[in-house]
Amino acid sequence: MSSRPVAVVTGGSRGIGRGVVVALAGAGYDVVVNYASNADAAAEVGKEVEARGGRAHLVRADVSRAEDRRHLVDETTAAFGRIDLLVSNAGVAPSVRADLLEAGEESFDRLVDINLKGPYFLIQLVANTMIAQQAAGRVERPKIVVISSISAYTASVNRGDYCVTKAGLAMTAQLYATRLAEHGINVYEIRPGVIETDMTGPVKARYDDLIFNQGLTPIRRWGQPDDVGRAVVAVATDLLPFSTGQVIDVDGGFHLRTL
Ligand SMILES: NC(=O)c1ccc[n+]([C@@H]2O[C@H](COP(=O)([O-])OP(=O)(O)OC[C@H]3O[C@@H](n4cnc5c(N)ncnc54)[C@H](O)[C@@H]3O)[C@@H](O)[C@H]2O)c1
Repeated sequence: MSSRPVAVVTGGSRGIGRGVVVALAGAGYDVVVNYASNADAAAEVGKEVEARGGRAHLVRADVSRAEDRRHLVDETTAAFGRIDLLVSNAGVAPSVRADLLEAGEESFDRLVDINLKGPYFLIQLVANTMIAQQAAGRVERPKIVVISSISAYTASVNRGDYCVTKAGLAMTAQLYATRLAEHGINVYEIRPGVIETDMTGPVKARYDDLIFNQGLTPIRRWGQPDDVGRAVVAVATDLLPFSTGQVIDVDGGFHLRTL
């Protein structure tokens, strides 16, 4: 069994997930880097973990598939013997942004499967594993972090499917926070704003204009994966022990109402 705490990060091979993995490795974690398809990118992230003194285990798994979620948890237990932290980060945007009055069911189903149903049942599986590992004295006060989005409460009519999944994910965090409190497992929802990753690449010019010319966010810069990584480290290292179900906005102040 690993003597260091162990984190599982879904979608850890790039973007926000990569930032979270690297930050956790710097904070003393061994990390399971889950990836959907790009093994080379995951291997690069694994090297970054090792450069920070941690051990990395790479697991290919599609979070929308039940057997893959089971594989991810089994692989983690086989490699490290414990799960101290789950960061449910994997998620997708619609392949094509479509107006609410025209968008199809195929995109809706895909996003629900990956962004909502996958995390909902992965958290269930990991929570049960954590409860068993606590009873066996392997872990103490494990934690769960859900990466949602400002889209949980911001209506974008050209990607309603994405917004609906993120709103559902916000409730998922509240549900598990409520249910798991008696087991000493805190659950946090981290809500990123506009973060510079592959996901926002296609809309970079538009967001550049919104951020730098139109004051979209009081803090006038793009968010970086490391901004999210730091927030994850804060909760992972028990800096918010009396908070659960807490929403942590990592959004440059996007959520502020101003007049
Ligand atoms: N970039 C932003 O501005 C932003 C803002 C708010 C929230 N988010 C959320 O943050 C998370 C990460 O986004 P990102 O910007 O880093 O995106 P990204 O596209 O760069 O990375 C997404 C990651 O999820 C993985 N993934 C996708 N489908 C998967 C599946 N079925 N199973 C396992 N892994 C899968 C990908 O392989 C990739 O590693 C997502 O949940 C996204 O909705 C992003």
